[in-house]
Amino acid sequence: MTLSAQINPFFAARMGRPDVSRAPRRQEPAYARLPRAPINASPVPHLTSLYHNHRAGEYGDRSYPGNCGGNLIKDLLTFFGPAGLACDPMAGSGTFRDVCEELGIPCMSWDIHDGFDACDPEAFTARDTFDFIWAHPAYWRMKLYSDDPRDLSRAPTLSDFLRRYRRFIKNCARALKPGGKLAILMGDYTDREEGFVPLTFHTKRLAFAAGLSQSCTDIIRFSHGASSGRKVYRSSFIPGLHDTCMIFEKPTSKEAL
Ligand SMILES: C[S@@+](CC[C@H](N)C(=O)[O-])C[C@H]1O[C@@H](n2cnc3c(N)ncnc32)[C@H](O)[C@@H]1O
Repeated sequence: MTLSAQINPFFAARMGRPDVSRAPRRQEPAYARLPRAPINASPVPHLTSLYHNHRAGEYGDRSYPGNCGGNLIKDLLTFFGPAGLACDPMAGSGTFRDVCEELGIPCMSWDIHDGFDACDPEAFTARDTFDFIWAHPAYWRMKLYSDDPRDLSRAPTLSDFLRRYRRFIKNCARALKPGGKLAILMGDYTDREEGFVPLTFHTKRLAFAAGLSQSCTDIIRFSHGASSGRKVYRSSFIPGLHDTCMIFEKPTSKEAL
């Protein structure tokens, strides 16, 4: 903070400096009182619609862009207890694979970095194979992952992203066994050209169109450790501090898919 900004915010504004006298101070962690969860027979009683575990767990590589902590994955796998094969078709640093290994769940995982395009029905050809699929796709171009034009984060327009994302979700739906679960972790974001992009809405829309139904509540995952939390912006906006894990299920009857 400069002395001029401290003393005269109008002068600071004229000089093009942020008026730090009116800006909020760097925030300390805030503690919110959460609603009490009902006692029930869940094997993971702390797994509720609000996921606020700030520990990432020793899974994957925390320095990988877009890495997600493994503890939510561990809780979901413990809750759903898939009987057979699991899969992560956009594996990044392998967080899901590491959790599966710890829990003794057989798992297959790939990424565009291995040359595998999960959006391509000719490449992701599995059918009625997996009991559980974990997907943590690119939030369109919020972060860029590779130079490969098939990378979802390289989709040049929103409609191009949604067209490829639709194919990805359809591939996952086909690859699930009847009764299998697809957990997608996704976040909304504000794009410099498109404005606010409700990617969680699109995820549900596309999953339902692929014949899946929602299996349980959305899980709002608090974004502890997000790099944006350490930045200072000049503009005014309502910060998004969460992403959403949606769990879908493939019908057991043959009619929908
Ligand atoms: C959000 S990151 C996943 C991070 C991962 N959950 C972890 O903890 O490390 C999204 C991943 O999707 C991959 N990806 C993007 N487009 C893809 C495609 N068409 N097929 C397969 N993987 C893709 C990116 O390379 C990136 O690793």
